[in-house]
Amino acid sequence: MSSATTREFATSPDCVKPTFSLGPFCRTDAPHDRRGTGRRLRDSHWVTWTTNGRDLLAEWTELSRAVGHELPVLCVRGITDEPITYTLPERAVPRRLRPGLKWLAARLRGLSTPKGVILLRDLFRTDAEGRGLRLLFAAVRQQLAREAGRAPMPMFPPTSRSTLAFELHADLWAPELLLNVYVRPAQDRSGQSLLLSVVELKLALERSAVPIEVKREVQSCLASSGAEFRFERLRQLLYAPDNPWHRRLESELRRRRWAFWFDRGEGYLLHDRRWLHGREAIRVRSSSRRFFRLVFNNRDLTKPSSA
Ligand SMILES: [Fe+2]
Repeated sequence: MSSATTREFATSPDCVKPTFSLGPFCRTDAPHDRRGTGRRLRDSHWVTWTTNGRDLLAEWTELSRAVGHELPVLCVRGITDEPITYTLPERAVPRRLRPGLKWLAARLRGLSTPKGVILLRDLFRTDAEGRGLRLLFAAVRQQLAREAGRAPMPMFPPTSRSTLAFELHADLWAPELLLNVYVRPAQDRSGQSLLLSVVELKLALERSAVPIEVKREVQSCLASSGAEFRFERLRQLLYAPDNPWHRRLESELRRRRWAFWFDRGEGYLLHDRRWLHGREAIRVRSSSRRFFRLVFNNRDLTKPSSA
């Protein structure tokens, strides 16, 4: 990176600043075939990289050609013995790329906690850029982990190859912001993403004669810090077929949810405790690399490390 570029990363706001911070992104128009989507999904809008973000991606695309595609995976002792995140150690990042990496980490940590869903587009345009972005996410995860201490753990978790439908859920990991980017979405447009605000979830619970203690437990799961992993418990409360409220709740959730197909280079960023996400079944062969995700906390959500 030239010294001029380094200065730019350090100082330039590079897009009109709204009253809240969009981190490394700036507002843009909805894709032509999805006009009005931001308005229909309350408090949501489309964004793409700022100029600095796009320049950074170009540098990492170049680097990805040199380092290959396999990324190390990391287990986090005390959380799981399974690989929980891809990572890229700092020593693997050339010195000239470090200011840009720090800029991105600072922008992600400075991002306002989104009320709605931040809809992402044009995050990459070519396969090479897609690989560059994957490498960049692995490196920024490591940078965020270093800056935040051990807990909460930012993650870039491996994804599965499953094509089955996945009901609306919250991941309930310790980090609360979820950024999903689609790399190889099914070209028959199956496997649409599902989104539902927790405000709508509460209305659905209200209309489905769910007992008050169950509603309270759902709320308590969604308030979880991630220290105790409550993902399965939340799924059970919402979907166990022997729940007397099961059928009614299922149809309420189906009626209220928002189904959406994201194209390559598109995705979303949301607060995992304010929005549920899921997907419909995928009808074609699928790769575990069809999307990737970064799970992290901004400055507001970072709790003091217990380590
Ligand atoms: Fe999920």
